[in-house]
Amino acid sequence: IREIRAEAEWVSPSNLAIVKYWGKKNIQEPLNPSISFTLRQAVTRTRIKAEPAVEGGFTFSLNGKVKESFNDKIEAFMLHARRHLPFIRKHHLYIESSNTFPHSSGIASSASSMSALALGLIELHNLSLGKEDTQPDRMMASGLARLGSGSAARSVYGGWTLWGRFEGLKGSSDMYAIPVEEVADDFKTIRNAILIIDPAKKKVSSSEGHSLMDFHPYRDARIGQAKDHTERLLGILKDGDWDEFFEIAENEALSLHGLMMSSTPSYTLLHPNTISALALIREARAGGLTIGFSMDAGPNVHLLYPASEEEKVRSFIEKELSALCHEQKLIYDEIGPGPERN
Ligand code: PMV
Repeated sequence: IREIRAEAEWVSPSNLAIVKYWGKKNIQEPLNPSISFTLRQAVTRTRIKAEPAVEGGFTFSLNGKVKESFNDKIEAFMLHARRHLPFIRKHHLYIESSNTFPHSSGIASSASSMSALALGLIELHNLSLGKEDTQPDRMMASGLARLGSGSAARSVYGGWTLWGRFEGLKGSSDMYAIPVEEVADDFKTIRNAILIIDPAKKKVSSSEGHSLMDFHPYRDARIGQAKDHTERLLGILKDGDWDEFFEIAENEALSLHGLMMSSTPSYTLLHPNTISALALIREARAGGLTIGFSMDAGPNVHLLYPASEEEKVRSFIEKELSALCHEQKLIYDEIGPGPERN
């Protein structure tokens, strides 16, 4: 291994899961397969500078300020990463990150930040091996990103991706995500507007939520449901049927929150305005608008719709939904091409 004095910079997006990952086994392996699409606007930019040092270490800063509150999470990730990328043991890493989207906005910053970090580290690893092509192998980057945050495994590619072993898709694995190739044009340009119902930090973290699945009474049923939804969604993505797509996306979002409500201890992250928004969205769909929703582990609502409905959806949002948002806040995003090297 060569000592290097070098830097790598990656811009990596967050993603939105339609079939949700909820619960884990072994070391950051998912209980069930999940499918997501990668966003375009919501990205983390991460620059890593590696300086030779007697002992490995890191300094992390977010938006220009040294931030120690993330050190435990990064340290846990580095313990794994060190085993796969030996250069980390002999370098001090200066990690500078910035997000284009607000913290706790209902967009998973762990997916974008951990995928950007993994891509940068693999590029530096390749340099330390003296490789000419330092472009990270995406599957390897996905596997490494997974060790930082499960959902980050899906953010190393653009478009639609699947993470978790699923018999119906060749090459799928619990260790890393793979791209979903067969997608109808309509779903290749899917839009995602996010209603910021409540920007407060969640009371129960996703890590705690995952661990409550270990002894959840519906654990096996949930695994079966996610597999069934994965199989159906792969078909729907190919065929381009929006009604069936919304049926699965909404069922998954509500099931995720149902699992939180039925775990021990039970909890809910829903806000009264979340429920109001869901009802209005379903009413608008019954009235002919091609629109549906998803949710992450939080109170905010992700609107899903085809690019062709953009104008109608914006006017629906302004008239009926923006009053439900915190300070009328919402973010417009869409499917994107995936991470880029700077
Ligand atoms: O990657 P984590 O550990 O933050 O888990 C994310 C879980 C959900 O966002 C709720 C679902 C998913 O598949 O992204």
